[in-house]
Amino acid sequence: MPHPYVLLSAAVSLDGYLDDTGPERLLLSSPADFDRVDEVRASVDAILIGAGTVRADNPRLLVNSPERRAARTAAGLPEYPLKVTVSGTGDIDPAAQFWHTGGEKVLYTTDKGAERARALGLATDATDATDGASAANAANATDVVPLGADLDWRRLLTHLHDVRGVRRLMVEGGGLIHTQLLTQGLADELQLVLAPLFVGDSEAPRLFGPGGYQSGRLRLLETRRIEDVVLMRYEPTAPGTGPLPVAADHHWLALACELAAECPPSDTAFSVGAVVVASDGTELARGHSREGGDPVVHAEEAALAKTDPADPRLAGATVYSSLEPCARRASRPAPCARLILDAGVRRVVTAWREPDTFVPGADGSGVLAADGVEVVVLPEHEERAKAPNRHLPH
Ligand SMILES: NC(=O)c1ccc[n+]([C@@H]2O[C@H](COP(=O)([O-])OP(=O)(O)OC[C@H]3O[C@@H](n4cnc5c(N)ncnc54)[C@H](OP(=O)(O)O)[C@@H]3O)[C@@H](O)[C@H]2O)c1
Ligand SMILES: [Zn+2]
Repeated sequence: MPHPYVLLSAAVSLDGYLDDTGPERLLLSSPADFDRVDEVRASVDAILIGAGTVRADNPRLLVNSPERRAARTAAGLPEYPLKVTVSGTGDIDPAAQFWHTGGEKVLYTTDKGAERARALGLATDATDATDGASAANAANATDVVPLGADLDWRRLLTHLHDVRGVRRLMVEGGGLIHTQLLTQGLADELQLVLAPLFVGDSEAPRLFGPGGYQSGRLRLLETRRIEDVVLMRYEPTAPGTGPLPVAADHHWLALACELAAECPPSDTAFSVGAVVVASDGTELARGHSREGGDPVVHAEEAALAKTDPADPRLAGATVYSSLEPCARRASRPAPCARLILDAGVRRVVTAWREPDTFVPGADGSGVLAADGVEVVVLPEHEERAKAPNRHLPH
């Protein structure tokens, strides 16, 4: 699913805040930096902000320079980039300047939020024209796009790309938006301006909140002094493919151990649970031994069978298995280590190395590692992984 290039832009105080708690917007940047932001705006197809920023700052989000607007028009682009906002509730003041300045707008929201937004009269299109000014109205139209019960950033970015033709998206905050895009591995660049002042108020909005960041150690692309602020441009090293955070590893492995406890009992095979999880934390599939009445199916095999072999997320996914994937088996042509390699999965987290109970010297981890797959053993979960297998000979 193609997405636009996503450029996050923010100015931050030395103590990491985006704003203070006063009614006026805190000016963090310098005049020359506001002009630089104007230039970036002129270079993109769309600018996105969260509903929180519409409420707090009431911004117009325009390209202010007439020369830059003229250059856009000369290049066959709309005078202003598309303005995009995101709201779960759909509850945004219809009088906000966001709606009444610049060119086309789109509100991405939930199904419920779309009802609210329409009730507020936020959706407008050319057919609303009553004065014959339909062309001007079309250029000002606001599209309300419901994305389901919850707002999914991948769907939003795909919609912007495929339906609105957006290839370059500038995101101007606030903190909740930036945090989600970085934790979900969806940002391509971060342009951060550090302003030489302190906010010193823990109630103020922070730039980044807690979360499992999928950005790796960022690569520093550029530093630029602009009057008294410093611009830093960073690139996440592996958007969407970074290692899952440790806390998530424990969560998913604990789930795999719970699934192991659900297996129909057997005296001749292990009880194992497995979960396949994409790099953004989306569960792709789960399975357990002897699932669905198949007396020989293994947990990893059952889980992988539920994935789509063409799913590009498998390459960045992790297989969590309560027991190390098998290296050899009599009941099927391919052992689970092979199935994992064939699925293109490059990371396995397990709780328990396979004992010699059924297959002496089995080394599924070795088979995986020999092909470059990262295998992590978290022994904290070993007792839970063993629990449904206590009756087996040691
Ligand atoms: N210094 C800077 O560069 C800069 C830039 C931008 C903003 N700011 C400051 O940041 C503050 C606002 O930031 P903020 O973090 O509070 O707000 P925000 O990130 O602008 O917007 C948050 C809102 O966006 C909607 N939203 C975000 N993610 C969503 C999701 N996954 N599903 C559904 N809705 C979602 C929700 O709207 P609903 O509540 O409608 O559901 C949510 O309340 C302001 O003080 C502003 O001045 C500073
Ligand atoms: Zn197996």
